Amino acid sequence: MKRSLLLTGFMATGKSTVGRRVAALAGVPFVDLDELIEEKSGRTVAQLFSERGEAGFRALERAALDEQLADPSASARVVALGGGALLQRERRVEALGQAVLVTLSASPKEIVRRLESQEGGRAKRPLLAEGDPVARVAELLEARSAGYGEAHATIACDGRTPDEIAQQVRAVWERDAVVVAAGTASYSVVIGQNLVERELGDLLGSPSSALLVSDTTVEPLHGGPALAALSNRGCRSSEVLLPPGEQHKTLDGLRPIFQGASSLGLDRQGVLVGLGGGVVTDMTGFAAATWMRGVRWIGVPTTLLAMVDASVGGKTAVDFHEAKNAIGAFWQPCGVICDVTVLATESDRMFLGALSEVIKTALIGDPALLTLVEERTEAVLRRDPGILEEVVERSIRVKARIVSLDEREQGLRATLNLGHTIGHALESAGGYTALTHGEAIALGLVAALRLGERLGHTPSELTARITRLLARLSLPHRLERAALERATGLLRLDKKRSHGSVRFVFAHDVGRVTTSNVALSDLAGWTPDLADLGA
Ligand SMILES: NC(=O)c1ccc[n+]([C@@H]2O[C@H](COP(=O)([O-])OP(=O)(O)OC[C@H]3O[C@@H](n4cnc5c(N)ncnc54)[C@H](O)[C@@H]3O)[C@@H](O)[C@H]2O)c1
Ligand SMILES: [Zn+2]
Repeated sequence: MKRSLLLTGFMATGKSTVGRRVAALAGVPFVDLDELIEEKSGRTVAQLFSERGEAGFRALERAALDEQLADPSASARVVALGGGALLQRERRVEALGQAVLVTLSASPKEIVRRLESQEGGRAKRPLLAEGDPVARVAELLEARSAGYGEAHATIACDGRTPDEIAQQVRAVWERDAVVVAAGTASYSVVIGQNLVERELGDLLGSPSSALLVSDTTVEPLHGGPALAALSNRGCRSSEVLLPPGEQHKTLDGLRPIFQGASSLGLDRQGVLVGLGGGVVTDMTGFAAATWMRGVRWIGVPTTLLAMVDASVGGKTAVDFHEAKNAIGAFWQPCGVICDVTVLATESDRMFLGALSEVIKTALIGDPALLTLVEERTEAVLRRDPGILEEVVERSIRVKARIVSLDEREQGLRATLNLGHTIGHALESAGGYTALTHGEAIALGLVAALRLGERLGHTPSELTARITRLLARLSLPHRLERAALERATGLLRLDKKRSHGSVRFVFAHDVGRVTTSNVALSDLAGWTPDLADLGA
């Protein structure tokens, strides 16, 4: 176990009992955070609450947790948290990246039953001192549901033995997925090799029916494990194969999915599974968002781009005429499974293009990811599954953290647009055929770095470092003046959106980016400087 396990959940859900057993099973230390705080301060939790108030206690709790997780090289451990320890959202999202977090849940009745049978009973619990306890617990659980839902898993404990629960917790810990925190719609992304049949089987649960959506290229290559998982569930299931390609990502293109759902009688308890590149997963997600006003869906991305980019953020959409992703919805999948071995069959051009998104992601938030791609370039290009697991996992972690902190694109999420301002314009200037999205983003990155240099944000060594890496990955990195002028010209035409300026993301260092507006009139003046001489 590489990372520690945190157990959260309401009081009396058995966090310490279960925690001790999981720690024993794994042979690692166990820490009860409340006990640790009591030991250190020489006070009971109730005393600390009454002396310092809830805020004072939470500060102590936070410091104690920080200490447990501070040293990433320290051995993994199991930490049982107090019920309110991770209610502060930013700390929770951070914890999801540092450790595996499991919520134990129980019904209000069961919680009160357990509390009353404990020594000291309710009197020991300051939050429950007054009123009807079952109603009070239900109220608190409701208020905390979004917080408790943001975890690697929520395990219901009523009527089950601590050993059974401990086994289940351990399995979640071993899987060590990446969580995309989105309140009660949070979900896990699992990354590995040849894991689709097993993981999909788990995620499907017991649906009334299941519809696999794929395309005619992907399904013959990689459909076997997903189809096996569906048939193992024993529910009604069928599949829809779409024609491949962005040109089919349209309202009309959705029809076969809805037709398939209708023929299957797929109801609110049904589930859609999208197996394919970003086109298939975007369409499956949108169909799931709208069929019966929303059903569950699972993403099984099969391209590098769909894994590192489309699998996180809950954006689903189809295009409308020229407008990309014009009709869509935010609709989170209930889980995503990335089997990196399927990337072996992806075309070179698409695979390489997606690496520019990986580099972008590394620049935004993970220096170790950038070093990994630099040092293991050959293995990445060979599509070595071990390296790809790490590349995909690290990329997803960065994006998951960013979208978790900014689900509806208020600010932080804008940093994901690094390289995309000019990149999109170059893609569009090439009629979406001259350059793939990834190739355009490679050039957009170079342009954003050079502009950053021009404006004093970006050190020239960073531009040189990224340009060198793009070259080694055979990605475009030379900016032609004419193409650049066409692209900035397009940005100027798009005045309605831009109000005379466009938003750029600037890299100051690897892992440190900021956004700011650049006046289009200035940009036009600088364009010649951004181009490569003689290109
Ligand atoms: N939802 C989001 O947040 C998000 C993010 C990024 C991109 N996208 C969307 O993703 C789409 C692009 O996705 P893409 O780059 O995966 O392209 P794609 O889905 O068009 O797939 C590219 C081609 O590769 C084939 N293919 C897929 N997996 C394969 C495999 N393992 N082996 C062989 N062939 C395979 C497909 O059949 C297709 O022909 C765009 O529509 C874009 O808008 C969405
Ligand atoms: Zn992109």
